[in-house]
Amino acid sequence: MKVVCTENSQVLATRLAKILRTPVVDVQFSRFPDGEQYLVAGDLDDETIIVGSVMGNDALVQLLLLVDACDNSVNRLVLPYMAYARQDKRFRQGEPISARAVAQALSRGVSDVITVNIHEREILKYFSVPAKNISLAGDIGAYIRTLHLDNPLVLAPDEGALAFAEQVASANGWDFDHLEKTRLSGSEVRMAPRQLCAASRSVVIVDDIISTGGTIATATGMLYQQGAKDVYAACVHGVLTGGAYVRLMATGIRDVICSDTIERACSKISAADQIASAIRRP
Ligand code: R5P
Repeated sequence: MKVVCTENSQVLATRLAKILRTPVVDVQFSRFPDGEQYLVAGDLDDETIIVGSVMGNDALVQLLLLVDACDNSVNRLVLPYMAYARQDKRFRQGEPISARAVAQALSRGVSDVITVNIHEREILKYFSVPAKNISLAGDIGAYIRTLHLDNPLVLAPDEGALAFAEQVASANGWDFDHLEKTRLSGSEVRMAPRQLCAASRSVVIVDDIISTGGTIATATGMLYQQGAKDVYAACVHGVLTGGAYVRLMATGIRDVICSDTIERACSKISAADQIASAIRRP
């Protein structure tokens, strides 16, 4: 077995290979003058673990090319982050189900797929090969423990993320809740925990994705207004687009934590252990 990866998953793939005690195949990446991508993979094996986060269109094309380059082996695809997953339904006539289009394209040439906190579990059915999802909720909880916060309150930014907040909190005996938006006027919105009170508490807002950071920035400001002692944000996928990290730090948030499904300076949690366990499980 060997591991091979796209350019943006080098750190995670190397960590994974170390745990699996297997080499990482060298891949030369380049571009043609017109911008089209090209790659040449080194010596592959009969079984190849292909690791590639799809973070944007170039990464998607690169992963498709890499899977195709590995067509002499049995390929298992690790898809730590899957772009387009948030368009998982047809919300209006004429729209694509983008998650389905991407999942179907990535199913070709692989025997199975492992995803990490996929935006909606329903997306797994769009792959035409067996697909399983792992969750880093426990790993986020373990990281929060290292902060030694006094009885932290774990908050989901909305009801949809409540189950994730519960998974992070319950194993540690922490309180959890979700934020609820109340429209005060045409331009004013209040965000507060639905049932619990944030005053004098250390709060950790948890979500699967931080993209523009808009949701967390608004919530952080409101929580400080409500007397929160300190506010942290933790997510699995730090998309952090368009200056999101800077914008978040300007709110007075104590820290923004994400995993290495998207490799960032603030990737303090690794998905490698869990992916390795999923690969070893029959
Ligand atoms: C939404 O469905 C996701 O779970 C996140 O809550 C969302 O992507 C966060 O977006 P942003 O960081 O742009 O507010």
